Amino acid sequence: MDIIQPVSWSADGYGVRILDQRELPTREVYRDLRTVDDVYDAIRTLSVRGAPAIGIAAAMGVTLALDGTEADRFEVGAKIRNAAARIGGARPTAVNLGWALGRMGRAIVEHRGDPSSLHATLIDEATRVLMEDRHMCQQIGEHGASLIQDGARILTHCNAGALATGGVGTALAAIYVAVQQGKSVEVYADETRPLLQGSRLTAWELRRAGIPVTVLVDGAAASLMRDREIDLVIVGADRIAANGDVANKIGTYPLAIAARHHNVPFYVAAPESTFDPATKSGDGILIEQRSADEVRFGFGSLTAPLDAAVYNPAFDVTPSDLITAIISDRGVHKPPYIFR
Ligand code: MRU
Repeated sequence: MDIIQPVSWSADGYGVRILDQRELPTREVYRDLRTVDDVYDAIRTLSVRGAPAIGIAAAMGVTLALDGTEADRFEVGAKIRNAAARIGGARPTAVNLGWALGRMGRAIVEHRGDPSSLHATLIDEATRVLMEDRHMCQQIGEHGASLIQDGARILTHCNAGALATGGVGTALAAIYVAVQQGKSVEVYADETRPLLQGSRLTAWELRRAGIPVTVLVDGAAASLMRDREIDLVIVGADRIAANGDVANKIGTYPLAIAARHHNVPFYVAAPESTFDPATKSGDGILIEQRSADEVRFGFGSLTAPLDAAVYNPAFDVTPSDLITAIISDRGVHKPPYIFR
């Protein structure tokens, strides 16, 4: 399969190349990020988005703090720490961001040998973060595909596909692998207000892969389930607490409630880097609040009175008791969930 690469090294090796997701589905625009601030801005503005892709961009991004003039490992360490503090503050909910930056920090601590090789070690570590994510996506896809029957009608929310990861995605990985296994599927993609990751991104990448997709407004999902058009729901995650509570794009929680009401299995797919055993339950997950203008100017024009207050959380938490199973690169986890 021809995998889209939302994050990679730039052709000259001195930057991070991203597919600017704000431009999709109108245009496929790649940009080379040259500085730590460029990477911060790309994550903050959702040019790069999706938990695993954010982590990969962050790991690569901190290396842009180095210019080869560093005198010793202490100077390298200080520059990487400052870069990690900056990029790590770009978005709070996806644990993959801190996870990837933690790996870069550990690579410095564990580095042995000539300090001049530290820069190369950090580039290697960031590349490993990318390659391991690609591998985990494939594993998730294989475990997830076992839950998908031939002819399945699948509902998904937001974008948990190749655009959000270093590989074939998480929720969509299960769909891609099922299709590769010869199963026919029909995907329903929630539009995903307010930024339309479902209609702009999921529908775009599924059509690019030749997979049938129907876009619906978020509010139509429960009716679709009631009409018995859906066999399973599968979504991604931004953070999974030790007890299996899942933070994901706003609108996931009502989808899980509707799925329970209509007896539709509700699956979450995520790699190891999205699990946060240090957070006991969803109550401990910080939910990003985004700008009111994302709601007030929904489609480039005024979509709410300027003086109306706006509630715009980017994520919600789905309690683990609404989740049929969590699919990771390690397998299919069934309740009760205890992640260590
Ligand atoms: O705000 P976004 O677009 O970064 O939110 C993305 C999601 O919520 C995805 O569903 C999640 O990160 C899983 S990505 C494999």
